[in-house]
Amino acid sequence: MTLTIALTKGRTETQVLPLLAAAGIHCEAIQAKSRRLIFADDPSFHFILVKAPDVLTYLNHGTVDIGIVGSDILAEQGHRQFDMLDLNTGRCRFILASTADFDPKQTKRKLIATKYPHIAQQYFQKQGEDVEIIKIEGSVELAPLTGMADAIVDITETGTTLRENHLKVFAELASVSTHLVVNRLALKQKRTEIYQLTQSLQKVRPQEASL
Ligand code: PRP
Repeated sequence: MTLTIALTKGRTETQVLPLLAAAGIHCEAIQAKSRRLIFADDPSFHFILVKAPDVLTYLNHGTVDIGIVGSDILAEQGHRQFDMLDLNTGRCRFILASTADFDPKQTKRKLIATKYPHIAQQYFQKQGEDVEIIKIEGSVELAPLTGMADAIVDITETGTTLRENHLKVFAELASVSTHLVVNRLALKQKRTEIYQLTQSLQKVRPQEASL
């Protein structure tokens, strides 16, 4: 039976393809970098390349059996599928960051810009703080730099974006890595194939999440 997989485009794709190849899956066509979105040449594994926030949408609709996506998205969106394997790649961190003059203890209600409104709200709720969230789609670092927000809740991997924009980390919220998530119905119908794949990936994934 064919397994259909939604793979997050971009950084996740780049980091996961070597793992898939090491697990014996033919990914040459995906690695060949084109604008193609569907890869169905291998009868055992069909891939689609999607943006991270769409992975769970495809999974929830049963369009794909498996999603490969960051745990940042899983935490933000919440889901009812089966989080089967931490691939120990794509390690990054949720952080609270801003310009150096930001005062986390300021009494004025804070404006927080983020791509992750749920995560940000949850963090400040735990701090017992009521904040206003501004939802941003990308380049979140611009928000405190332009004065639109007091601070951001975002992910950082290498720290380059923060550094190059002179932003400082004020709190570490949680760590993030790439996970393999399985549609619950697919897990019943394609159990053998799914377990074979996850066992192969388990053997080749980094043993510890690398920073
Ligand atoms: C993410 C994140 C940061 C950046 C951090 O954005 O939102 O902006 O990566 O990575 P770094 O610590 O390695 O510099 P992404 O590159 O996914 O794009 P976006 O800004 O369009 O959201």
